[in-house]
Amino acid sequence: MREELKTERLLLRPLEKADAERLARLANNWNVARMLSRMPHPYTLDMAHDWIARTASERAGGEEFVYAVTNDEGFIGTCGLQSHADGTHEIGYWIGEPYWNRGYASEAARAVLDEAAARFGAETIISGHFWENHASGRVLTKLGFRYTGEEHRWCVARQEKMRCLTMRLARREVAA
Ligand SMILES: CC(C)(COP(=O)(O)OP(=O)(O)OC[C@H]1O[C@@H](n2cnc3c(N)ncnc32)[C@H](O)[C@@H]1OP(=O)(O)O)[C@@H](O)C(=O)NCCC(=O)NCCS
Repeated sequence: MREELKTERLLLRPLEKADAERLARLANNWNVARMLSRMPHPYTLDMAHDWIARTASERAGGEEFVYAVTNDEGFIGTCGLQSHADGTHEIGYWIGEPYWNRGYASEAARAVLDEAAARFGAETIISGHFWENHASGRVLTKLGFRYTGEEHRWCVARQEKMRCLTMRLARREVAA
C-alpha cells in the first residue's frame, strides 16, 4: 500500500505523533466507539500515543495499514486495511463526529479500496458493520459492497458481543 493517498478533499497518510491530541479528542466519543470492535472507551491521550506507535510496526509488518484521514483542519479520522490469515483484507474506518455527513468516510474508503484492489485484488476485500450502523452500511453499499452473512463480534467499548453484518465487494465491482 502506498504511504499517501490523495483525494479531492483529503490526504490519507501514516499517523504521526502530532495527531495524538486530535485523535484522542475525536476518538473519546461514545457515538464513535460503540460502532467499532476494537476502540476502548473512554479513550485517553496515552492510548492515542500507544496506538500511533503500534500502527507504524503493524504497517511495517504488513499486518495492517492505517491511514490518518486529514482535511485542511488536520486529522479527522482513520481508514485502514487489515490483512487476515485467510487472504482476505478488511476495510474499516471512523470519522470524528463533528465531520459526519460530509462524504468524508465515503471519499477516504474509496481511496483505500482502490489502492487495496490494485495491490491485493478486489476479490479479497471484505468489510462489515454492526447491525444498527446504517450510516456505515450506506457507505459500504455505495462503494459496491454487498451483504454476505452475519457473525458476532466483540465490542471493546460496550464489552458485549454485537451482531455484525458481513460484506464483500460485489462481482461487478470486482470486474470493473
Ligand atoms: C459511519 C461513519 C464512518 C460515516 O462517516 P461519514 O463521513 O459521515 O460518511 P459519509 O458522509 O461518507 O456517508 C454517510 C452516508 O450515510 C447516510 N447516513 C447517515 N446517517 C444515517 C442513518 N442514521 N441511517 C441511514 N443512513 C445514514 C448519509 O446520508 C450518507 O449517505 P448518502 O451519501 O447517500 O447521503 C461515521 O458515522 C462514523 O465514524 N461512525 C462511528 C464509527 C463507525 O461506525 N465506523 C464504521 C464501523 S463499520
